[in-house]
Amino acid sequence: MPDAPDEHEKLATVRIQVDPRSRAETLEEELGEAARVLRQGGTVAFPTETVYGLGGNALDRRAVARIFAAKGRPQDNPLIVHIAQMETLDNIASSVSPEARRLADRFWPGPLTLILPKSDVIPDEVTAGLKSVAVRMPSHPVACALIQAAGVPIAAPSANISGRPSPTAADHVWRDMAGRIDMLVDGGATDIGLESTVLDMTCWPPVVLRPGGVALEAIRELIPETRILAGEDNLKLAPRSPGLRHKHYSPSSELWLVVGEWKSQVREIAERAAAEARCGRRVGLLVSAETAAELRALLAPESGFPESESLERYVIVAEVGSRDYPQEVASALFDGMRRLDEADVGIMFAESYDTAGVGLAIMNRLTMAAGGRVVEV
Ligand code: TXA
Ligand code: MG
Repeated sequence: MPDAPDEHEKLATVRIQVDPRSRAETLEEELGEAARVLRQGGTVAFPTETVYGLGGNALDRRAVARIFAAKGRPQDNPLIVHIAQMETLDNIASSVSPEARRLADRFWPGPLTLILPKSDVIPDEVTAGLKSVAVRMPSHPVACALIQAAGVPIAAPSANISGRPSPTAADHVWRDMAGRIDMLVDGGATDIGLESTVLDMTCWPPVVLRPGGVALEAIRELIPETRILAGEDNLKLAPRSPGLRHKHYSPSSELWLVVGEWKSQVREIAERAAAEARCGRRVGLLVSAETAAELRALLAPESGFPESESLERYVIVAEVGSRDYPQEVASALFDGMRRLDEADVGIMFAESYDTAGVGLAIMNRLTMAAGGRVVEV
């Protein structure tokens, strides 16, 4: 699958701006044109609390086909259906277990996607032929108002070209999607910065197929048996979550993930960055504020570190917030990857994080972006 299929028909993408702090009625009014585009089978990118989504009418096969075409997304990777009201759930899923309902009551609206048995109103194109459907009710005021105004459930994958990091700002969407979609609703930067948690409720115990905005710990408070796919299980269960088979969350240049005791990670990143710079290769460092500070001290010209004078020219740092506040890291991670890509680095290094709370999703995205390039120290 090409990164950006050239044969795509060129569209005049309309960009509008709305203030997510406006009243719901104001938003619905301002989003009238976007809602009309959706009802007529067009594609509209919009902010959610996780990442920007690329929406189309989930009941319209042609709209769904346009989403796949715009993203260059493999046809076997199903979409999440977004709803604005609890009643809609029963139209989309053929049955909702009491456990699934408890989860929806507890975490919706919010960053939790439930995999449930699919009803007949959802076309096979949305679910890539699966008998199950992914459903989520976003909490972002712009997403809520848009779905509400459209009056139909909205199928929406992340609004990036397939394989690239998910967009956390309207400019990210614009760079990937201008000319490929009908409309972009700019509602500012997204809050969480990583995608929703995908939880398979078609089996017992439930299985987290993708860690995300709702922490595993929080789901286990309701359903302690909840399992998580890890390591090789990802591949074994590939048919159940097609998305896991595909390249994901990746910057263009190769990313190496360094794991181990923190100070050792810092030392390893410094040595590798210096070695790359020595060969005249531009190096990107996707690191926390704490790690960036250590690296700057370590690599400063007066530090005596080998070749440190060439570092300023070759090493580009994208800081992603504090290690003490993993949510800061989550919301800055994809933007950091994109910034380093734009700085045209040949290689990136990232540190690793504790897997508690949102840390699990951070480590999942970094591991997938690294695609096996992990250095243990
Ligand atoms: O936060 C999010 O979830 C964002 C916003 C826009 O809502 N959306 C998002 O969509 O990340 P997408 O398409 O990038 O990721 C959806 C994931 C994929 O890994 C896909 O394979 C999985 O959900 N998925 C969708 N339907 C499924 C199903 N029926 N069974 C198993 N996995 C499914
Ligand atoms: Mg995606």
